[in-house]
Amino acid sequence: TPSTARPTDNSFINKMKSSGRNIVVFYGSQTGTAEEFAGRLAKEAQRYGMKGMVADPEECSMEELTQLGDIENSLAIFCMATYGEGDPTDNAQEFYEWLQQGDCELSGLNYAIFALGNKTYEHYNAMGKYIDARLEELGGTRVFEMGMGDDDSNIEEDFITWKDRFWPAVCEKFGVEASGEDVSIRQYRLVTHDDTLAPEKVYSGEVARLHSYKTQRPPFDPKNPFMSQMTFQKELHKGGDRSCLHVEMDITNSKMRYDSGDHIAVYPKNDSALVDKIGELLGVDLDSVFSLVNLDEDSSKKHPFPCPCSYRTALSYYVDITSNPRTHIFKELAEYTSDEKEKEMLKLIGTNTPEGKEKYLNWVSVENRNIVHILDDLKSCKPALDHLCELLPRLQCRYYSISSSPKVYPNSIHITAALVKYETPTGRTNKGVATNYLQGIVPKPLVEGEDKSPVVPVFVRKSQFRLPTRPQTPIIMIGPGTGLAPFRGFIQERSYMKDEGKPVGESILFFGCRKKAEDFIYQEELDEYVKKGVLTMHVAYSRDQEKKVYVQHLLMDRAKEVWRLIGQDNAHLYVCGDAKQMARDVHDVIEKIVREEGGLPEAEASAYVKRMEAQKRYSADVWS
Ligand code: FAD
Ligand code: 2AM
Repeated sequence: TPSTARPTDNSFINKMKSSGRNIVVFYGSQTGTAEEFAGRLAKEAQRYGMKGMVADPEECSMEELTQLGDIENSLAIFCMATYGEGDPTDNAQEFYEWLQQGDCELSGLNYAIFALGNKTYEHYNAMGKYIDARLEELGGTRVFEMGMGDDDSNIEEDFITWKDRFWPAVCEKFGVEASGEDVSIRQYRLVTHDDTLAPEKVYSGEVARLHSYKTQRPPFDPKNPFMSQMTFQKELHKGGDRSCLHVEMDITNSKMRYDSGDHIAVYPKNDSALVDKIGELLGVDLDSVFSLVNLDEDSSKKHPFPCPCSYRTALSYYVDITSNPRTHIFKELAEYTSDEKEKEMLKLIGTNTPEGKEKYLNWVSVENRNIVHILDDLKSCKPALDHLCELLPRLQCRYYSISSSPKVYPNSIHITAALVKYETPTGRTNKGVATNYLQGIVPKPLVEGEDKSPVVPVFVRKSQFRLPTRPQTPIIMIGPGTGLAPFRGFIQERSYMKDEGKPVGESILFFGCRKKAEDFIYQEELDEYVKKGVLTMHVAYSRDQEKKVYVQHLLMDRAKEVWRLIGQDNAHLYVCGDAKQMARDVHDVIEKIVREEGGLPEAEASAYVKRMEAQKRYSADVWS
């Protein structure tokens, strides 16, 4: 069994009753933010004389929501993230399906929702909105209006602003009062281990099962990643000071299958220089072994991450030390700070006052400080390292659009990743965790009988981004920068089908980069496909001339042809890459083409594109 969970009975009602709780906070979380917010809400309930607990809908019998009314003054809070194209997170999938079918009676249910999403995506907070409306429809009582957090701007601020209005509403509803001081309560207790602990009992970075990285057992999934050997790596840029990596991961004997368009997830490791720096600043021996054990014995989550492990392991594999810490951490840091000025500043940032928010915005967000920078800049701030490990969020895996086709490379998965490295306003160099981890690995070709190293923990995540079922169907691929990644797989696959003698429809690529001589990635390969007659390619160089030329401009230049392909030949259109601007701009241009070339009025053109999306003739694989 995974170390972070233990088999428990999945009746949350029983658990609430036996431990005298009246608030349950469910979370739909993919990257841990919703889970963190849920934990904070459950903890804060104490301030109002209530008792809360966190619950994972995946581990609970959610039908019991119908019985929540049996508990006096009870409340269910939902911290629900929206993922991808308006989808629920994996752990909320079943709950979502149950809500859709269920015609249960929820008249005794008091509920409130905080939704987490990202405005750069079209279906902003779709999951929160759905659950909010659906619970009401089923008879539930909304105790307070839904809060919405936008991860593209400042989700932390959205959250604290919402909950500062939410709690008074709860107090009024249940006739309770805040019980005074804001006490800091730890959720886990520290257990230190002496030398008698056998080394084989200590985790060394595994996501869940002890030794799972040494004794590998399929099937491989997020809790049980495959240790994949990196067999090859090369730089794709030919000039300039940025870097884009081509990486090949071996999956021989893994029984992992993938399709063109799927994603590969990589579990990274934090930069060892940053890890060492934390040990140095806090004066802790990073090789000492510890455990954090949940003080709440009813919780299904016994440890925040696999324990026991060394501080070095925790800081390298389990906690996020490079993001900007959230505000609630500052309150706790203040308690460990001796210098009065430093302490006051940390306290200020931890408050939800306009001055506190302003300070957070400037000193943390704009000046881009991570926990290492903070400890470095505030020399008297010396938190207990175990408490810091409890407060920091879990380090997340990173996803990459697979840039190969399984038809051509059944035993390997290719990754195309732009290296993240930039200067912060305080003059420090920040390095993206996963891309720098990958770049730092020296690849080794497969040699039979030789030791499999270096290895990287990975798993395959299925996506909706798929080639048309019929090879004859024409495809239009729009992918500037690393947005080219999945299309490299698509093109390989179509070329392969053509070699097999299948009737393959037109494949048209719109690629964009800054300069032909610098960042036209995979140029030689793509030229070969063009020569072979399996690909038509249009490239927008944005910085080779004075005026910017982008992929959407080239689409507009070819409006007639694009309309012929979608309007008449039933082409499938794909967009991949930057979610922020590009995907939206391309969407607008496609609507414009449908309007102008298809002769449809605005509303009909937009309905036409919506229909294309519903029929999977317009698909996006975008990230921010
Ligand atoms: P992190 O440590 O996560 O750092 C990135 C963060 O640093 C950014 O979020 C931003 O907050 C900050 N940052 C970055 N640049 C700057 C700057 N100039 N100034 C200030 N702050 C900055 N990426 C690819 O390269 N190729 C792909 O094919 C690909 N496919 C993806 C598919 C999906 C479904 C998703 C969700 C993402 C995909 N990504 C892809 C993105 C990828 O998952 C990672 O987010 C990316 O590689 C960065 O990871 P990192 O750990 O190196 O950087
Ligand atoms: P730029 O950096 O010169 O603005 C890959 O990143 C390519 O996408 C670059 O040439 C980049 O141009 C371009 N790009 C930037 N913003 C874009 C947008 N809104 N739409 C399309 N392409 C864009």
